[in-house]
Amino acid sequence: MSAKYSRIISTGSALPAARITNEDLARRLAADGIETSDEWIRTRTGIEARRFVNGTTETTTTLAAAAAQKALEGGGVDPKTIDLIIVATTTPDQVFPSTAAAVQRLIGAAGCAAGCAAFDVQAVCAGFIYALNAADAMLRAGPYQRALVIGAETMSRVIDMKDRATCVLFGDGAGAVVLEASAKPGILAARMYADGSYDENVLGLTARIDHGELCGRPYINMDGRQVFKLAVDGLTSSAQEVAVLAGVDPQDVDVYIPHQANLRIMTMVAKKLGIPDERMIKTVSEQGNTSAASVPLALDEAVRSGKISDGSLVLLQAVGAGMAWGSAIVRWRSE
Ligand code: ACO
Repeated sequence: MSAKYSRIISTGSALPAARITNEDLARRLAADGIETSDEWIRTRTGIEARRFVNGTTETTTTLAAAAAQKALEGGGVDPKTIDLIIVATTTPDQVFPSTAAAVQRLIGAAGCAAGCAAFDVQAVCAGFIYALNAADAMLRAGPYQRALVIGAETMSRVIDMKDRATCVLFGDGAGAVVLEASAKPGILAARMYADGSYDENVLGLTARIDHGELCGRPYINMDGRQVFKLAVDGLTSSAQEVAVLAGVDPQDVDVYIPHQANLRIMTMVAKKLGIPDERMIKTVSEQGNTSAASVPLALDEAVRSGKISDGSLVLLQAVGAGMAWGSAIVRWRSE
């Protein structure tokens, strides 16, 4: 039987060593005269701690490669058999070459006989869903057989520690999956969406412009309340659409893995979809919003903790700046 579909065969993840609690952050901000508290952050977002890179030995590239390595080891996959690498990141260590090309070198997939394509996807928090959707389509179309799909971010390098409304939200990390061409459907349906009407004034990382000149560090601009509403709408409608495409009901989802931005958003969407709270994976409390890394990090946690097993119906979804969003419905298959 020829391969017509793709399936996830293994997952991996990597987090920086430094765990920064809300109290740690509050103390750091207080030194600059900025007030926040563990209570405010926890009740508004569900976040209790996040990981920050050290910026030397821990970078977007090293986290991406470490997560990829774990996924390869977990699946017993020889890196030389990987013929496609897609990294979703909005915080690459350099503009070029791509993070995917660096990962290819670091994991030992460079120069392999199969010929391995490598490129990055920039769709901010929705990046992993975009990358997974693209990899699924490429495996189905051929000639690709085995892909590494990675989400990796170092948001700590771009947050403005003087803006309490945004700096408390984000964290660093990476997650990866090995996706393989398959005769049986693993990814049942995936869709991605964007609406560029909601520009950087709604959510963006932009530099300040003074008299027409770019000056200072880029900073995150966010209309929190509008993003909250757009996130709930996009996640709900895209889940409903992929469920129709997959021929399933959202209520039949065994494991729900939403973008880990804010527990209030996640809970609201789960309720709208009729998915019981205990089926939702929650890593936001320990990791914060890791942008494109959030979904594969949560997926790896669900696999490692045994919440996902052969036959599980899994809903993955994410939303972020652009606005860009998307969902994928997966039937977990051990073969
Ligand atoms: N500590 C203490 N007070 C704060 C903090 C803070 N860290 N940040 C803001 N405040 C204050 C505000 O200044 C405001 O004070 P005021 O009433 O005196 O003006 C008050 O808290 C309420 O602020 P709001 O912005 O109205 O608070 P809200 O309840 O909307 O929560 C939040 C803010 C958490 C950002 C929420 O809007 C949200 O989660 N939005 C979604 C945004 C998101 O998830 N972004 C992540 C990136 S995009 C993505 O991944 C989807």
